[in-house]
Amino acid sequence: MMGMVFTELLEMVESTFSFSTVDAVIARSGTRGTYTSVGNYDDAELFAIVGALSAETGVPVPDLLHTYGRHLFHRFYAMYPKFFDIHADAPTFLAGLETHVHTEVRKLYPVARPPMFTLEAAENGTYFLEYRSERGLWKFAHGLLEACCLHYGGAHRVADITDRSGGEGTWVRFEIVPA
Ligand code: HEM
Repeated sequence: MMGMVFTELLEMVESTFSFSTVDAVIARSGTRGTYTSVGNYDDAELFAIVGALSAETGVPVPDLLHTYGRHLFHRFYAMYPKFFDIHADAPTFLAGLETHVHTEVRKLYPVARPPMFTLEAAENGTYFLEYRSERGLWKFAHGLLEACCLHYGGAHRVADITDRSGGEGTWVRFEIVPA
């Protein structure tokens, strides 16, 4: 996983909890603790940090991933406003998440392996967004999606989530409906 996912996470831990929580999490997880944003690190380190953060704070891992997704959306917007500003609403942004955003990320950073997304329009303004990744970080995706809907004025919301991978969270369908 790319270093920015680690650096932003540790910054969120510091601002939400404290610097001593960052220290405790790094010590407990046995991870290196210093990351560069364009470096590439083992996914296991990310899971170790989130697991240690959960143990330190008592907040369950899925809730932490969800919170982190919501937090990172705002960081993404601050860093790459052009990806978002060219779209008028969440569905049009999400339609280009795979073909535009993550494809651009793959070109810029060949080591990056962002997840796969497909968007399908259904009836009555409903959309189905499918997430596929062996990492199973659908809770993280959920937080990003919720923040994305709010960013575009809250005209859409995530109504339902279906795990199509038998509980592994590696293939998950989000139903996005008019709010
Ligand atoms: C609502 C918008 C977005 C969603 C739902 C989303 C979803 C995700 C998820 C769930 C991951 C974790 C990796 C995985 O599950 O396999 C990820 C990784 C990543 N995303 Fe996105 N993303 C969004 C927007 C963006 C934007 C705007 C950028 C930057 C321009 C971006 C760049 C990245 C990068 C660099 C990674 C790390 C990939 C790696 O290290 O291999 N994403 N994204």
